[in-house]
Amino acid sequence: MKIGLTEAIAKLNAGELVAIPTETVYGLAARYDKPEAVAKVFKVKGRPAKNPLIMHIADSETLAKFVETDLPHLQKLIESFWPGPLTLVLPLKELRLVPAIVRADLPTQAFRMPAHPLTLQLIKETAPLVAPSANLSGKPSAVTPEHVETDFGPELPILDGGITEKGVESTILLFFDNLWHLGRFGAIPVEAFAKILGYIPQELKLEEQPLCPGQLLRHYAPQASLELKTQFEAKEVIIGFSDRKYPDGTHLISLGPSHNPEIVLHHLYSALRELDKRGVQHASIDINVPQIGLWKTYLERVQKSAQG
Ligand code: TXA
Ligand code: MG
Repeated sequence: MKIGLTEAIAKLNAGELVAIPTETVYGLAARYDKPEAVAKVFKVKGRPAKNPLIMHIADSETLAKFVETDLPHLQKLIESFWPGPLTLVLPLKELRLVPAIVRADLPTQAFRMPAHPLTLQLIKETAPLVAPSANLSGKPSAVTPEHVETDFGPELPILDGGITEKGVESTILLFFDNLWHLGRFGAIPVEAFAKILGYIPQELKLEEQPLCPGQLLRHYAPQASLELKTQFEAKEVIIGFSDRKYPDGTHLISLGPSHNPEIVLHHLYSALRELDKRGVQHASIDINVPQIGLWKTYLERVQKSAQG
């Protein structure tokens, strides 16, 4: 059910859930300081309790209430990328500042300032909002109000912000051992951090992965079985690129041109959801792309989708 700002404010303040737009994907939001509302988020999504939530804030003064802000490069990261698709996982000053259910009992909290005017205003009139992506756990994320409705039905209130700009989740950085590490590839390419940090944040090692629990779970998977491919046969359903020639008789669900990863990511979740809408049982996805920049985000997402 699409609603406006005034109604969204009232519902969140009353401890209800509202799906909210961001520049990345839609979020399923509750006030961080209402643990019963937060519990509903986990329940409605079917999300494991061990997978913590991102807190969405509207200004950097709010961050200072929760964490020490003199960590190396933190101010520069905030100035350069907030509001925007960067999530920062930081040690809390005191555990009691954030209900344990929000952070899955970890001593850290993930923060992000979304670049969406409606949602920034919403946060200012409510409180910081926790919001996982607004999809059933394990499914592709939602980039339109219609996607949210497909997963949660017509009753869930949705603050209508149209189609999201980026179409893929925020990049997650974690600070520990005096370094920034990559928790999740996302809408900002990892190379973009080198100018500030002097190094490219590295993916977590196997023994460090429990620090970012969500990465270990099933993700982004349509009902259809998906195969990653660079060579294609006739009569396949292919999620691929508009400027490529595929064999005759194949059916293309286009992600856009193969020289533009921004456009491709903008279309990716809609294409994965299109498979289920059409009742496709089996499809192939084109992974003939370079391993740089946002293509690394593309490759990581489609690999996870195919594992589903
Ligand atoms: O773009 C986004 O980040 C979207 C929009 C709605 O903001 N949100 C999003 O939330 O993708 P979600 O819950 O689908 O993914 C959050 C990820 C999970 O992998 C979770 O494990 C990780 O962030 N995370 C959250 N809190 C964490 C923490 N304290 N330590 C490590 N990882 C954390
Ligand atoms: Mg998610």
